[in-house]
Amino acid sequence: MESIKELHESGRYIGGQFVDTFEKEFASYCNVQCCVSTGNGLDALSIILRAETALNRLPKDAKIAVPANTYIATILSVVHSHHTPVLFETEQCVVQVDDLKKIKEDYDALIVVDLYGIMVDDDVYAFAKANHKKIYTDTAQSHGGRTSSGKTSGSLAAASAFSFYPTKNLGALGDAGAITTNDQKLAAMCRKIANYGRDSQFLNSEIGVNSRMDPLQALFLSTRLKVLESDNNSRRSIAYKYSQGIDNKKVQLLSTQLANRSVFHIYPIFVEDRVAFIDFMKHHGIQTGCHYEVPPHQQKAFSKWNDLQFPATESRHQQQVSLPCHPLLDTQEVHHIIQTINSY
Ligand SMILES: Cc1ncc(COP(=O)(O)O)c(C=O)c1O
Repeated sequence: MESIKELHESGRYIGGQFVDTFEKEFASYCNVQCCVSTGNGLDALSIILRAETALNRLPKDAKIAVPANTYIATILSVVHSHHTPVLFETEQCVVQVDDLKKIKEDYDALIVVDLYGIMVDDDVYAFAKANHKKIYTDTAQSHGGRTSSGKTSGSLAAASAFSFYPTKNLGALGDAGAITTNDQKLAAMCRKIANYGRDSQFLNSEIGVNSRMDPLQALFLSTRLKVLESDNNSRRSIAYKYSQGIDNKKVQLLSTQLANRSVFHIYPIFVEDRVAFIDFMKHHGIQTGCHYEVPPHQQKAFSKWNDLQFPATESRHQQQVSLPCHPLLDTQEVHHIIQTINSY
């Protein structure tokens, strides 16, 4: 509240020192040189792709490979930046090298997604590099994550896009997003495109958008960033309790390998009769979530892809249930959730 008073008194409600400070703090947290704040995560992704095109690093109407198993925003970003998505199957929750080897269609670049908070691992980035494919990461769900080798979320790709939607591990008081990169030229172009393509007050050299982070959000995020590590540790410890305590053949958990690389934006389990399970949990006072019920290629908005088949993605979308894993859950609540699941 004190910071909000300070912001009010400063009289500067767009841009300014609070936004600059958060960008510096978040770049340093992610171990990168540049952070460009945006209005939300979808814009962060689209702006990266627009900026790469403006810099002639992506051809116009590029083919961009995107996992079918993602939130619709990843795919929308490709469409919004006038490129063509090439959807591909992922056998696990996140992209693995074997998935990339199976892509038959040619593509110019690749977006991978740290879905559920699980980091796409180092070997995927190495594979893309060896095959001369530009790679970008949708890090909307993996703030503070680490790969097997310890690399930080937001530092692995040519550029990464974060969302600070309020429920994210690092959440704002409304919509906000950011791009992280080590490429100064790309960062400058992203910054320009996010601010009307503007060079100076009256001169615009790119077709830009208005996608800026409010200083109110920046202030709030600077405050929340201080507790992100401890929040993520609390999430990990809840997840560990679930993995040790849940023992029910009807409930499939994440493999240890994937769990070890997760910051548990959500804690996913997979249950065949999902509707009955969710009802059962509700009956015991436990709210669950779904991420997500319908995969992007089966959405009405993407009717041209409705006949495509991605069996692993589809079955995951049919069976996935998110258990509560907010850092403020207490031990008794976690115990109650485990016992209830084991009695299902
Ligand atoms: C995987 C993924 N990508 C992109 C986005 C888009 O972020 P935002 O809602 O901030 O635009 C989200 C947010 O929900 C997401 O979960």
